[in-house]
Amino acid sequence: MNYLQQPFQLGSITLPSNIFCAPLAGCSDLPFRKMTTQYRPGLVYCEMVKMDALIRNDPHTFRLLDFSPGMHPIGGQICGSKAQIAGKCAKMIEELGFDVVDLNCGCPVDKVTKDGSGSALLRTPELIGEILSNMVAAVKIPVTVKIRAGWDSLSINAAEITKIAEQAGAVAICIHGRTRAQGYKGPAVWDYIRECKEASSTIKIIGNGDVTSGLAAKEMFSATGCDAILLARATMGKPWVIDDVCRTLLGLDPLTRTYADYREKLMEHFQYILSYQPEKRAMLDMRRVGCWYLKQGRGAKSLREALNRSKSTEEVLALMAGFSWESVDFSSHLEDVESQCEEVGAC
Ligand SMILES: Cc1cc2nc3c(=O)[nH]c(=O)nc-3n(C[C@H](O)[C@H](O)[C@H](O)COP(=O)(O)O)c2cc1C
Repeated sequence: MNYLQQPFQLGSITLPSNIFCAPLAGCSDLPFRKMTTQYRPGLVYCEMVKMDALIRNDPHTFRLLDFSPGMHPIGGQICGSKAQIAGKCAKMIEELGFDVVDLNCGCPVDKVTKDGSGSALLRTPELIGEILSNMVAAVKIPVTVKIRAGWDSLSINAAEITKIAEQAGAVAICIHGRTRAQGYKGPAVWDYIRECKEASSTIKIIGNGDVTSGLAAKEMFSATGCDAILLARATMGKPWVIDDVCRTLLGLDPLTRTYADYREKLMEHFQYILSYQPEKRAMLDMRRVGCWYLKQGRGAKSLREALNRSKSTEEVLALMAGFSWESVDFSSHLEDVESQCEEVGAC
């Protein structure tokens, strides 16, 4: 079975493939996307931005939507529960040059759900339909939506929302196979994604949750019948996972990444951070990003710890240059990215 689609049709636009990169708040900024787009994902999403913040022209919010010409096709994701401003916000995303606009119905954070936004929308499926209809009516670019399986295990309603989204004119729905109550704990339940595929007729189904390798991607396609997959935490410190997935789906052998590859890609990521962020922010980002890459190597702990104590970007670069990279073994993925995030307090 050939799961990889190159190209992949999403509504009116043709994407390079059906392997997508997720929105990751606080992580998938411009430097991050400069790394992932080198591996030519079918679509890369910016992190979510609040509808209210867009409407009041908040400069910080527009910075989250920065992208460079080589990053197409790119999606912008809006988060909010006010149907009356959703069309205007979608239009703003379109006018900024985005190829796709997505509605966030998955964010579990209290700060977001307290006004009925993010995953709280799962409790008001008709409102999701209303918001999506307004977005579809306002733009020419394809509209997508990203949901969780349900609010909690007693209220799984992803298949119902799939039908509502289809009716409203969304061209694709991404299902993260966890509930809001689960947060990021426990495995994603792919059966819920399969149920959405079964409930769908024209809307494309994007499977998401725990796809960390080419093999996992193959299993996700096979278990759910989904049309595309969305890689999320696996891209943190491993931007080449997109390439790994495509190679596996093409039946090619995986490439071995050595310490030299990790060093080179981490340095490249650092350079993108340095050219984008002011000094203090750059130093904090370099610590965090360094942790993602280095957690995967046996023998890299001392460098990771030293980076976490560093006080300036010069110190970070000096630590990188003075480290004996040859002694690190990157041949087995040591720890999952979820625990990396917790450790650095990044996510
Ligand atoms: C740090 C972090 C930030 C996230 N930010 C967003 C976001 O802005 N919008 C969104 O729809 N999902 C967001 N997510 C959810 C991911 O896109 C994805 O659905 C989730 O991580 C499950 O996929 P995975 O198991 O492959 O990581 C975020 C997840 C993490 C870990």
